[in-house]
Order: sequence, then structure tokens, then C-alpha cells
Amino acid sequence: MKALTYHGSKDVRVETMPDPVIAADDDIVLRVTATAICGSDLHIYRGKIPDMKTGDILGHEFMGIVEDTGKGVTKLKRGDRVVVPFTIACGECFFCNKTMFAACENTNPGRGAILNKKDIRPGAGLFGYSHLYGGYSGGQAEFVRVPKANVGPLVIPAGLSDEQVLFLSDILPTGYQAAVNGEVGPGSTVAIFGAGPVGLMAAASCRLLGAERIFMIDEHPYRLEFARQTYGVEPIETGNIDDPAAHIIESTNFRGVDASIDAVGFEAKGSTVETVLTDLKMEGSSGKVLRQAIAATRRGGVVSVPGVYAGWVHGFLFGDAFEKGLVFRMGQTHAQRFMPQLLEHIQKGELKPEVIITHHMSLEDAAHGYKIFEAADEECRKVVLTPSGPFVPAATETIPEAL
Ligand SMILES: NC(=O)c1ccc[n+]([C@@H]2O[C@H](COP(=O)([O-])OP(=O)(O)OC[C@H]3O[C@@H](n4cnc5c(N)ncnc54)[C@H](O)[C@@H]3O)[C@@H](O)[C@H]2O)c1
Ligand SMILES: [Zn+2]
Ligand SMILES: [Zn+2]
Repeated sequence: MKALTYHGSKDVRVETMPDPVIAADDDIVLRVTATAICGSDLHIYRGKIPDMKTGDILGHEFMGIVEDTGKGVTKLKRGDRVVVPFTIACGECFFCNKTMFAACENTNPGRGAILNKKDIRPGAGLFGYSHLYGGYSGGQAEFVRVPKANVGPLVIPAGLSDEQVLFLSDILPTGYQAAVNGEVGPGSTVAIFGAGPVGLMAAASCRLLGAERIFMIDEHPYRLEFARQTYGVEPIETGNIDDPAAHIIESTNFRGVDASIDAVGFEAKGSTVETVLTDLKMEGSSGKVLRQAIAATRRGGVVSVPGVYAGWVHGFLFGDAFEKGLVFRMGQTHAQRFMPQLLEHIQKGELKPEVIITHHMSLEDAAHGYKIFEAADEECRKVVLTPSGPFVPAATETIPEAL
């Protein structure tokens, strides 16, 4: 089969790889019909995720048709059309029982990413996300092996296109969990840092939950303008406004917002010192957005962090957070927890995640997709690849009335 493989920083290639096979009774093999490139893939693409090996297959946002099932698969059959969550969860451990699927204790044979780990078990394995997270092959490929198939994959009813439901695999539940973690509800004021796909899905979710005012901060005017038109955000362009938090405080009666959502993560731009320290591997993460989020949030408010962080952050103003009595919530998304309810919102037309897609490409063009998404060229917001051609529903047979 053809698959997108990792060869080093800014070097991904579409190559011929062995077809995946059933390795455990509760595995399926999926024929991938649609897969997306995520901001998390960009961390890998920029060479910032350790424990990647040459030839690893990338991709954790995918869906397709069940091609083969292990003999322990009870919930799916060949031919079913499913979306697969990026977190691999067993469904029966201590954390899965609490619906904390991203903390599953049984699916990651790797080390996990905690630095001061002691003997704690790693969290869930992830598709296509380095050997720290289990070394599972990803779904930017014609076929992918999906473990724990009785727990993760969600069957999609007929009548919905791939693009309407693909983002149930990651960014839609991630944006939604970020909003729920931020305790966003009717009348809330929110600041969303980052107008990438996760920031946009967070904005859609905040609107769904009844937020009144949403500030959105980014350097790219085209992403902000889309968010203004689509979700009614108040855009703050970092090229024009030096200190977004100061602007937000002034615009909220010198109080700050109820919740800030950091949809940027550890590669946040804007601090030269931290960029240099990170490049020298003397610091794990840029704290630029975290400092802005702490400053922009009102006393007793929430800083919700879906953006990925790694290791330590200098200049983390914990004293300010204490003085304001802030709440912090963060982490990988418990995608399986939110997928069924979000599918219902899509069916009712209350969420239209597909509107953020700007680029449709074949798998062969995946390397170009990474390039333009990383550089924010061609006004790119989100790239969707179709490894085995777009999904076409089977035509229903019509029987002529006269017969
Ligand atoms: N928690 C999870 O389970 C989960 C799931 C998916 C993605 N993520 C993470 O969410 C983050 C965002 O993902 P994405 O797909 O939207 O990525 P993206 O790279 O497309 O978007 C990030 C946006 O942040 C902006 N940005 C950079 N520095 C900024 C700053 N100082 N202030 C404001 N904006 C700034 C960029 O211009 C860009 O538009 C990534 O860190 C990704 O790894 C986490
Ligand atoms: Zn992702
Ligand atoms: Zn589990």
C-alpha cells in the first residue's frame, strides 16, 4: 500500500509500505477514505517530537471502511463506515471506566512523555505519534490497523459525507473538550489563542454552548477573518496589537474573560528568548501564550489548554495564577467520550466542522499538503487527503414501476 512516512525534519514521503494485518483478536484493518493533517503532525514535521523513526507512518485523523476484522470484534463488520478516534483505549481499565480514554493504562507500550515520571504508567497509545506513544502506524495511508476496535471506531450513518464527520477523530472533540473544560456556557466571555483548526473548532463549540463574546488571537489575518465571518469572533491580530491580553482586559471592563483557551501550544511564537532556548533544547516549551492566557483571564476564571506542551516552561507566572485564583485544565482529548454527542450535533446541522477545509488532495500530494499547512501558504486552514478516492454512497437500485 501507499503511505506517508517520516524521514526527518521537513522530510515526509509517500512510499510503498507493507499492508497492515490483523495482529490481535479485537483489531480491524481499515481502508482509509479520508484523513487530515493536524497541527500536532506539524510538531513531528518540524522535528520537535522525540522517538520518531525513519519510515514511521504518520496520521491520527482518519476514517474509512472496515476491510477485515479480528475474531474478537463484536461491534463492527466488514463494510461498516467508521471514524476512528486518535487515542487508542481499552475501554475497561481504571481510567477508561472514568471515560478518561486518553489516560488508558493498557494501550501504550512506549514510555509516554512525562519527564519526572517515577514509575507512573504512560497514558493511551496514539496513532502515528512516535514511539513515546506506542509506535502505532498512522492513517495517512491506504490502509491502517486499528486496535481496540470494539471501543474506538464510531459507525457513521448513511447520508453524511466523509468531510462532515472526519473531524470527530480529533479536532472537533478537542475544541469541544477545551470549551467544556473552560466551563463555557450561556453568556460566557472567552479568549481563544490560535486560529488554527483546533482554535476554530473551539470557537464553534463555544458558540454551540452559548458563549456571548469570543476574542480570537493569531498572526494570520485570513484565519481570523474566516473566524469572524463564521463564528462571530472579535479578531486580535498579533501583528497589529502587541499585547492581546492588555487589549482584552481593556475591552472587558478591566476584569478579563471568564475563560482562556490556549489552542497554540509549545511552539507559540512571539518570544525570541524562548525560541532560542527551545532550539538549543534548554527549554521544552514556549510560555508566550500561557502567560497571555493567565493575564487575560478574570479572577476565578479558567485557563483551558488543548495545545500540546512538552517539558518545562520558563517564566510561568504561577504567582499571578494563585493571586487570581485561576483553574487550569488541559491534556489530550478523551475523544471517545464526546464523539456520539458531537455526531448528533452534526446530524442536526448544529455543527458544520467541514467548513474549515481549504485543501482536498490525493495521498500522493501529502508532502505538499504538509508544506503549505506548515507555512500557512495558499490561505491554508485544513488539508484533507483521500487515499482511496472520495467516499461515494452505493447507488440504490430503482425498480421500474411498470414491472
Ligand atoms: N489536546 C489534544 O488532544 C490535541 C488534539 C489536537 C491538536 N492539539 C494541539 O492543538 C494545537 C493547535 O493545533 P492546530 O491544528 O490548530 O495547529 P496550527 O498550527 O494549525 O494552529 C496554531 C495557530 O496558532 C497560531 N499562533 C502561534 N503563535 C501564537 C501566539 N503567540 N499567539 C496566538 N496565536 C499563535 C498560529 O499562527 C496558528 O494559526 C497544537 O499544539 C496541537 O498539537 C491537541
Ligand atoms: Zn490531531
Ligand atoms: Zn483503558
